[in-house]
Amino acid sequence: MIRYEDFERERLDPIYDTVAPYSEMSKNERYFLSGIIRAMRPKKILEAGVANGGGSAIILNAIRDIDGAELYSVDYTENSYRYPDKPSGFLVDEKFPELSDKWHMYRGGDVSRYIESVGGDIDLLMLDTVHTHPWETLNFLCVLPFMRNDSFTVLHDISIFANPDDRYALACRYLFASVVSDEKITPAPDDEDVRFANIGAFKVSEITRQYVNNLFESLIIPWNIQINDTDLDGISRIISRHYTPEQYKFFCDILEIQRYIFAHPMTLKGSLKKSIKQRANPKLFTFLQKIKRSLRIK
Ligand SMILES: C[S@@+](CC[C@H](N)C(=O)[O-])C[C@H]1O[C@@H](n2cnc3c(N)ncnc32)[C@H](O)[C@@H]1O
Repeated sequence: MIRYEDFERERLDPIYDTVAPYSEMSKNERYFLSGIIRAMRPKKILEAGVANGGGSAIILNAIRDIDGAELYSVDYTENSYRYPDKPSGFLVDEKFPELSDKWHMYRGGDVSRYIESVGGDIDLLMLDTVHTHPWETLNFLCVLPFMRNDSFTVLHDISIFANPDDRYALACRYLFASVVSDEKITPAPDDEDVRFANIGAFKVSEITRQYVNNLFESLIIPWNIQINDTDLDGISRIISRHYTPEQYKFFCDILEIQRYIFAHPMTLKGSLKKSIKQRANPKLFTFLQKIKRSLRIK
């Protein structure tokens, strides 16, 4: 069993200190990403979610000597959300211009907007976007038809929800848990992880496509973020063109139910009541009900 976080570590070492302050990954995760690329030697890579370009620099450095290898990167925003006066991915142009000849950067839209231009035969997808359900699953569904069999998806932040402030950042784990794959890989958790590794990779093969309905099913779980019509139209276009009519119809039904849920938000009273009922000790709940009845509170 290869430990990708240890595979050809010397490849990343020379640029490590320049990249680290701008990358959103931990040390172990950066070596995992670099190692898996060195081991698999992919020719066509798609990176969704760029921010400063820390991940892009690691990938470009890893494919430097792989003939014909190219990186396509997509970020939703024109400018980095960390450095708003600089374009997304600025790190590559500022610090590693010699690596940019293998790089195609698309800024200012969701993956669904660019995937048909990027085209097929993707060997590796590096996915690190919103982390709020349903985003990563939607991103993956849009990219899957363009991936080769026996390609890999690397997914960052699969355990980020263990940080109490990020408890709703569930999208990456939902995807990692529900996707069907011949091979799921995670490095050993590092010091910055809470018990479970925060990065993982899974193989995309025929079985992934065969059980893709699992991913559509997971989209029924209420969304934690509302998605604007432009993005939904772009995603629907990709689903309609690259999945079966039944799957597209299923997806349209899911959109309808999510619209209904967002149109009927929970009231404060209702959510407090549910929260107490679901989380409190049953004895406490019965006790509170008794008090309520004795006070004749409805
Ligand atoms: C966590 S950061 C990425 C960090 C980067 N992978 C790294 O290693 O440094 C997430 C990025 O995803 C971008 N993003 C959010 N939604 C996206 C989408 N639907 N398609 C592409 N990029 C998206 C955000 O603008 C943000 O820059």
